[in-house]
Amino acid sequence: MRFGINTLDDIQVSGKTVLCRVDINQPINPKTGSLKDTTRVRACVPTLRELSDKGAKVVILAHQGSDIEYNNFYTTRPHAAVLSEFLGKEVHFIDDVCGPAARQAIRELQEGELLLLDNVRFVSEEQTLFELKLKLTHEEQAKTLLVRTLAPLADYYVGDAFAAAHRDQPSLCGFQRLLPSAMGRLFEEEFCVISGLMENPARPCVFVLGGAKIGDAFLMMNTALTNGIADRVLTGGLVAQVLLWAKGVDIGDQSREYIRKAGYADLVSKAKELLTAHGGKIALPTDIAYTTNNTRKEAAAGSPCGEIQDIGSETAEEYAKIIMNAKTAFVNGPVGVFEREPSALGTETIWNALNKTQAYTVVGGGDSITACNKFGADVDYICTGGGALIRFLTGEELPVVRALRHGSGLR
Ligand code: 3PG
Repeated sequence: MRFGINTLDDIQVSGKTVLCRVDINQPINPKTGSLKDTTRVRACVPTLRELSDKGAKVVILAHQGSDIEYNNFYTTRPHAAVLSEFLGKEVHFIDDVCGPAARQAIRELQEGELLLLDNVRFVSEEQTLFELKLKLTHEEQAKTLLVRTLAPLADYYVGDAFAAAHRDQPSLCGFQRLLPSAMGRLFEEEFCVISGLMENPARPCVFVLGGAKIGDAFLMMNTALTNGIADRVLTGGLVAQVLLWAKGVDIGDQSREYIRKAGYADLVSKAKELLTAHGGKIALPTDIAYTTNNTRKEAAAGSPCGEIQDIGSETAEEYAKIIMNAKTAFVNGPVGVFEREPSALGTETIWNALNKTQAYTVVGGGDSITACNKFGADVDYICTGGGALIRFLTGEELPVVRALRHGSGLR
């Protein structure tokens, strides 16, 4: 047991049916339906291999995509093929989550076999919109369709989805009310590394926050600055645009419209509060980049521009310098649309600095992992979590951690 949670050493899984919740949520190529990145799939292999080698009948539960952004929302079928390749062993797939076909496939599993169920978010009670609206307790989650139909077929629940540990959804938090539980090896490793970062980061500790999923970033920035984990926060992506807007810097009609459409306009008032409380520690871009006819254009922040796609080169150099002088650098989210060549410079410059700095470097979040693969990833630790990592860094007990602690007490 570590951190009050059973590890795989504490449960005897031979011949038992184990429900294993992983996070293999990856960007999908919409044209081919294939995974654009496989880092998270690879990361959960040690747990799945150990369970299978120990003779468990392994039922894998996972989500793919977000029902909020309605992005990458897709079947988990391609993940089964990738998992099979990494494991060197077939991972069966069933295009059902908890209906009769899925239940039958679970009953037919033999010792050592693995079965991946379809995207759990195809079930409404698993959706983040549902979570945010209804806020079910873990006891209530144990009564949802997924949990009440699958739990009776299983002996144990293993939580390995660290990247989704901030979500309060039945597949992540409900089973632990009914089944003896443990965390998987990936969860254990992430917990260990990130706790170390929180308890005693070498200083100065710099956070780089960017990306498109910015609700989470705003949620934690205040805490990370107030409780003193971060000495400096360098901002890019939509995070920076909302902060610039809040500061009264003109970001242009197109960027404002994008932020409004993405549903982030109400973060502007939060951003104002943050700037009032911690303005001195939050770095904003002094220049930005946009594209015209697929060509990069740069402008000083506040000057007329098209839709902002990246931080400008002056800002990128400045941020790189700060990272070079840091002792700890934590990066969550790219600072620009790095997938497109004209807006890749900012993220590439930051990643180059991460590769060179002597600081202890931690990178988290799906898009950041993709950037690591693109620009080389000589960083000390790549965490599979984005939002989860950010929440964990606030010191809050995450819903999945709480649920696993409960399930670790069941026999
Ligand atoms: C992530 O990508 O951060 C995790 O898979 C959780 O996804 P979510 O933010 O859609 O819950």
